[in-house]
Amino acid sequence: MKAVYFDSFGANDVLKFGDVERPIPKQDEVLIKLTHTSVNPVDYKIRAGHLQGMMPHVFPIIPGWDASGTVVENSGAFKKGDRVFAYARTGTVKYGTYAEYTTLPVSSVAKAPASISAAEAAAVPLVALTAWQALFDFADLKSGETVFISGGSGGVGSFAIQLAKIKGARVITTTSGRNMDYVKSLGADIVIDYTTQDVVQAVRASVPEGIDVVLDCVGGDTQDQAWRVIKSEGRFVSIVDSPSAALAREKNVKAGFWFVNPDAPRLNLISELIDAKKLQLPAISVRSINDAAAALAEVESRRVRGKIVLTLDF
Ligand SMILES: NC(=O)c1ccc[n+]([C@@H]2O[C@H](COP(=O)([O-])OP(=O)(O)OC[C@H]3O[C@@H](n4cnc5c(N)ncnc54)[C@H](OP(=O)(O)O)[C@@H]3O)[C@@H](O)[C@H]2O)c1
Repeated sequence: MKAVYFDSFGANDVLKFGDVERPIPKQDEVLIKLTHTSVNPVDYKIRAGHLQGMMPHVFPIIPGWDASGTVVENSGAFKKGDRVFAYARTGTVKYGTYAEYTTLPVSSVAKAPASISAAEAAAVPLVALTAWQALFDFADLKSGETVFISGGSGGVGSFAIQLAKIKGARVITTTSGRNMDYVKSLGADIVIDYTTQDVVQAVRASVPEGIDVVLDCVGGDTQDQAWRVIKSEGRFVSIVDSPSAALAREKNVKAGFWFVNPDAPRLNLISELIDAKKLQLPAISVRSINDAAAALAEVESRRVRGKIVLTLDF
């Protein structure tokens, strides 16, 4: 099958286009003919070798953890031709989704939302599941609480803002000026331009009682700002860097790093919310797989609004 792959770690110049062996589905796996994938920051982190300590990697590696396509043969509850989507992480980093086919456990795969295109479906699984699991499974966000989401205009932030609003929470988020209208259109109640405003002062002015839940989608120094505005007994979840255990103890806050898990049941719930028009899609820019290197470079610049989707038109 045709795929983008690499057989050494490095920058975008390690990426190759060519024929690689097609994965063979094991028992309880679905073979999917992929039509679209999307680019996530994890794709360049894997290409650079940064996740080697977290899970086994086997060359040649096909990047990509978002799947959108159709089922090739009946498997489990799926019938040949079903439109499906999935967060495509498996136990070993090898067969990603920048390819014509992938195989995935039945437990990772969900029917794609009927109301959106296959290209749009590719923008959803990894980021929507991350937002859902971090906000609800780790942080147990409740109605009436206030959540501070850093990086609201990214892929995860785009869904996190909306899911928090659906839950009945108040959302305060950071973005640069050019994305302020975008995050407001997703439902953010209070938007701080981190390039021109003092984030800590702005949060304190709007939420003097302090923040119940922090969802950190940016990491680094921005965590310090969040620590200065969180309430005692709040919850602090980062999807980028492990939060300080010392600060968590000092402030009596539940804090941790969350790594998204494949999760078909929650993907089905996300699908229902999309079809019910309760959850809108992030901003999406569609490219050809032949432009994968440029798309990865753009995501690596950390300036993308919403998502970049790749059509698998090798
Ligand atoms: N642990 C996990 O399971 C998991 C899952 C998904 C993602 N992640 C990680 O989470 C991070 C975000 O992922 P993503 O897919 O949402 O990224 P993304 O879509 O690439 O995020 C890009 C957005 O971040 C915003 N941004 C950049 N620097 C910012 C800052 N200092 N303050 C506020 N906003 C800033 C940019 O907006 P402006 O241009 O307006 O600044 C841009 O719209 C990445 O590091 C990714 O690897 C982890």
